[in-house]
Amino acid sequence: MNIQHLLIARFQAALASLDAADAPVPVSKSTRPGCGEYQFNGAMGLAKKLQKAPRDIAQMIVDAVALDDVAEQLEIAGPGFINIHLAPKWLAQQSQISLADPRLNIPPQPAQNIVVDYSAPNLAKEMHVGHLRSTIIGDGVVKALEFMGHNVIRQNHMGDWGTQFGMLLAHLNDKLAANEVAETALSDLEDFYRQAKVRFDEEEGFAERAREYVVRLQGGDAECLALWQNFIDVSIQHSVDVYEKLNVSLQTSDVMGESAYNADLANVVADLKEQGVAVEDQGAQVVFLDELADKNGKPAVYIVQKSGGGYLYATTDLAAIRYRSQQLNAQRTLIFTDARQALHFKQTEIVARKAGFIGADEEYQHCPFGMMLGKDGKPFKTRTGGTVKLVDLLDEAVDRAQTLLNQRDNDFSADELATMAQKIGIGAVKYADLSKARTTDYIFDWDTMLSFEGNTAPYLQYAYTRIQSIFVKAGADVDTQAEINIAADQEKALATKLLQYQEAIETVVTEATPHVLCTYLYELASLYMKFYEACPILKEDVAEADKQSRLQLCRLTGNTLGHGLSLLGIDTLERM
Ligand code: ARG
Repeated sequence: MNIQHLLIARFQAALASLDAADAPVPVSKSTRPGCGEYQFNGAMGLAKKLQKAPRDIAQMIVDAVALDDVAEQLEIAGPGFINIHLAPKWLAQQSQISLADPRLNIPPQPAQNIVVDYSAPNLAKEMHVGHLRSTIIGDGVVKALEFMGHNVIRQNHMGDWGTQFGMLLAHLNDKLAANEVAETALSDLEDFYRQAKVRFDEEEGFAERAREYVVRLQGGDAECLALWQNFIDVSIQHSVDVYEKLNVSLQTSDVMGESAYNADLANVVADLKEQGVAVEDQGAQVVFLDELADKNGKPAVYIVQKSGGGYLYATTDLAAIRYRSQQLNAQRTLIFTDARQALHFKQTEIVARKAGFIGADEEYQHCPFGMMLGKDGKPFKTRTGGTVKLVDLLDEAVDRAQTLLNQRDNDFSADELATMAQKIGIGAVKYADLSKARTTDYIFDWDTMLSFEGNTAPYLQYAYTRIQSIFVKAGADVDTQAEINIAADQEKALATKLLQYQEAIETVVTEATPHVLCTYLYELASLYMKFYEACPILKEDVAEADKQSRLQLCRLTGNTLGHGLSLLGIDTLERM
């Protein structure tokens, strides 16, 4: 149920009957208490067209609009606002429908083929925090898209190719020759990279060998490719370990790294030249972009092939766009990287459209995110200034959750506590990231994210658990068919919020902003707490019908919270 869409449709019909079928239909949630749940603000804009005072127009609309079933009152306020007070009976009916429906009264959207490009670590090194954001946010959006009925094609555009592999392969070759196995040699990629770099900078003849490896690799030398494959396999496994710890849905089969496009790069450039999109400039192949000219009118330059013949990150992305459009039949593509790549994707899109690599009605959406900062407001680093390894970060989250749980009074077994720490620790890290507006930088702070108060995963997990404990207490005394009756203000506020779940998810899938779902769940949990305080459920003197009705609201809240958290990839707990 999308209340806003329903109201828009009803007002649209009313406006049509007043000869204003083309007028905008601004319906929004009311922000002030006592002003109903929604507002229609379109009367003022019609004064000129209908030659009447806005309040009179508002009255005409109120008379014309068919909302008897949905609203208990339409009230004209101020210069001509229409405040819509939803009818408790309608809210109760809709809640009843949601309760009986595993999809919670949310119909799927017409299915689209949607490519989601996320995570995409560079395999020469350990995954770092920037990839953590891409992985978590991307996966949150993927799950929401799938729930809404779309066919999502995950594309993990890993950085698995490039000149830096020359020195890495030369170094790996020596390790293997000294009888080390790749898994051990590469157990810490950061370390391995550093060792190779030191040799590259200092060891006589090593840089030369590294360059030879690059040439052999690019020339398709079988031995060299096997070595490269060995490196890539171990490195991908590092990422897969992180995905598993994070409870994200990416798998090895979703990997479509940069190397996968190698064979196509020459074709891409040839095609661009043939179409006249790319031209030669000082030996390089470039596209001049008048669309992004500087203030003196000088076009931006997008290089697709270097003067020495080498290809770039950009060339690979053009090949990827074409492949996704033509082979994967993408109707929409979402790419999650940090905001510093915004210009690259803007340029890539313009070039791809010029070259017809992407359909005219195909959507290409770069979804940038801000940086993860330490408490000092600077980019997140280890105490010694190094990059933070994701596995270590996630292990620390679980340790910290375990310490917090140990401090609480409880009767859980050690095993139970370990499982709980896992769910709470990982949930906290993910939620801290997901709940911030995507495009801004955010401060990574252990204490805030692990708090049981405020907009955190533990708070939501705890709210969910409290609901489950009511049902444990109520035992067999629950009528799952009971009729819902909305009487108290807190019941009305809660029921309204429950029916706004679809609006939240629809925003997440259009704007690729999981924080909208987080805010929704936080507000839902908070309204639930208010309802719980104001409306007794299992107390002796509560009438049976009220008790059962309230239990139904509890159940729907639990279902919705659980569902929302699962879309975010955060586990719930029955007890905590
Ligand atoms: N590997 C890149 C990085 O770490 C991200 C790749 C994003 N996807 C793409 N199609 N370029 O910055």
